[in-house]
Amino acid sequence: MKNILVILCIFFVSYSASGQTSVATEPMPSEPVQPIGVPPEIAIIPEPVALIKGEGYFILPANVIIQYPATDETQQTLAFLQERLSIPTGSFVSTISSKSETAHIRLILNDKQNPTIGKEGYQLTVTPNRITIQANKAAGLFYGVQSLIQLFPKEIEGKEPIKDIEWKAPCVEITDYPRLGWRGLMFDVARHFFTKDEVKQYIDAMVRYKYNLLHLHLTDDEGWRIEIKGLPKLTEVGAWNVKKVGEFGNFIPPTADEPRNYGGFYTQEDIKELVEYAKVRFVDILPEIDVPGHSLAAISAYPELSCTPDAVNYRVRSGERIMDWSRGAPPIALVDNTLCPANEKVYTFLDTVITQVAQLFPFEYLHMGGDEAPFNFWEKNVAIKDLMQREGLKNMHQVQGYFEKRVQKIVESKGKKFMGWDEILDGDLSPSAAVMAWRGMKYGIEAAKKKHEVVMSPTQYAYLDYMQADVITEPRVYASLRLSKTYEFNPVPAGVDPKYIKGGQANLWTEQVYNIRQAEYMTWPRGMAVAESVWSPKEKKNWPNFFGRVEQHFKRLDVAETKYAPSVYDPIFKVSRSADRQVLIELSTEVAGLDIYYSFDNSFPDRFYPKYTEKLSPPKDATMLRVITYRGKDPVGRMMNMPIDELNKRAGKR
Ligand code: ACM
Repeated sequence: MKNILVILCIFFVSYSASGQTSVATEPMPSEPVQPIGVPPEIAIIPEPVALIKGEGYFILPANVIIQYPATDETQQTLAFLQERLSIPTGSFVSTISSKSETAHIRLILNDKQNPTIGKEGYQLTVTPNRITIQANKAAGLFYGVQSLIQLFPKEIEGKEPIKDIEWKAPCVEITDYPRLGWRGLMFDVARHFFTKDEVKQYIDAMVRYKYNLLHLHLTDDEGWRIEIKGLPKLTEVGAWNVKKVGEFGNFIPPTADEPRNYGGFYTQEDIKELVEYAKVRFVDILPEIDVPGHSLAAISAYPELSCTPDAVNYRVRSGERIMDWSRGAPPIALVDNTLCPANEKVYTFLDTVITQVAQLFPFEYLHMGGDEAPFNFWEKNVAIKDLMQREGLKNMHQVQGYFEKRVQKIVESKGKKFMGWDEILDGDLSPSAAVMAWRGMKYGIEAAKKKHEVVMSPTQYAYLDYMQADVITEPRVYASLRLSKTYEFNPVPAGVDPKYIKGGQANLWTEQVYNIRQAEYMTWPRGMAVAESVWSPKEKKNWPNFFGRVEQHFKRLDVAETKYAPSVYDPIFKVSRSADRQVLIELSTEVAGLDIYYSFDNSFPDRFYPKYTEKLSPPKDATMLRVITYRGKDPVGRMMNMPIDELNKRAGKR
């Protein structure tokens, strides 16, 4: 993440001063527009490529028979379908592996491949008598089942039997396949540790939206999360810090006697279990070992990996300040959190780590970080100066480039493809290095022009750690990203050769995410917007239509007990000053058809209070503006309590 502080400060200040612009796109003329507030009957996310609605419904019988292809790869799909169709409904579900005329649901692997739907696509037909899902490969059946479940009432997501529901699915014919092959979510398990079961819970939620890649950010300044045999201190020392809560980044530095018992790591057995859990759900896991920066946990365990003698005194970070970003990127490090590119021991260390990581994760890529390495400790280091002279390196970017090339070689020697954050481009790497573009789309475009494979995961659209609405209602992070902006994500921009764009990804950094419920809150619904951006045809994207479906998914996630953010309903504040320098407050919403009610008298507004219609000027002595959004008679937003002082601050000088 995260620390591009200058950009961040500028962003935050301008955000604070001006509020955010609402970016709701107009519906395409050819698309039927769902009337505002009327729930769509079919609400599949991501939107399928083609869907024709038929007449009538399939009604789930009390005894359901599923015909399935007897392959190992379809077992989990079958188990998932059986579970969903039996637990909430109380139906008895039996399965049969041979062709059966009596089957109510048929899962069929095509004998003759259908080139339209490819490896992950499917065809789903629902008639009053039968449901059929056909696919070329097992993954397609899995995704077809995900869509099927979304056709049934929301209660199908339940964890216990629910009575008095008619378990019906509307008749449809769907042909569907993904726009892109890499549909990723990154989960930072380094800043805060998430248990194996929590990672599984995260996987369960992501597959609902047809994601197929989980990027685990396994190492950082705050923790080393993977057992490496022969390097025990990585997890004995590197996996633990001092538990702190509050606003991460500026914590009081821990004292020597505070217990370092907060954190954790995955054993190699845990990793194998996670890889298998993901695999049967058609999810690959991309491991990331973030070097040469973000390496304080490793250095605390093995200080000899640093260029800086004082590293013997370093400890795993607990969220105290370790970087000065006031002058932009690269930051000025207050402690040296980099592995030393001029130290041969570093490459031996990395060889050991990469060998084991490569064996544990079958996925073809290995992500080696490369972001945000500070240079100020390198600049004054004699060994680095010698290295520069010896190798003819002219600046610190070339020093990092030297490091990246050596790491790339190690990764490739283990039979893996090398991937890194877009800073690796500064090092003039060979096109065989794959680039994950995060600082902006332009870095991905540049990488593609240089013939690198690219995964687009830019901060502007895909950073799930950013706030989803005003800082007044969200846990404070340095930047904001609203759902409607996320929905504008187009991973294959004009002017780029699409063959280099592997796909797109959203990233959940967890400095400010202390538990799995908050991880879910940050991921959903923005994860739905990114899922649609990487799966659905670009031409089918339509914000009002999407949001109508999102609202249905809010209800489904309630039943599934998965947390999500309702921030999209919170109004957007924009402030300015009148000619006589009084603050003027403009309110808007991302979602059409909402009313905003407000008070200046400290009481809590409801729909019997004044409705916002034009810019507001606070009464002279008012100290608080409270606002809430309604749809008709129903409150949908949260009560927002905005101090007038805060608005004055945002409006700038009187
Ligand atoms: C990043 O956000 N530093 C990749």
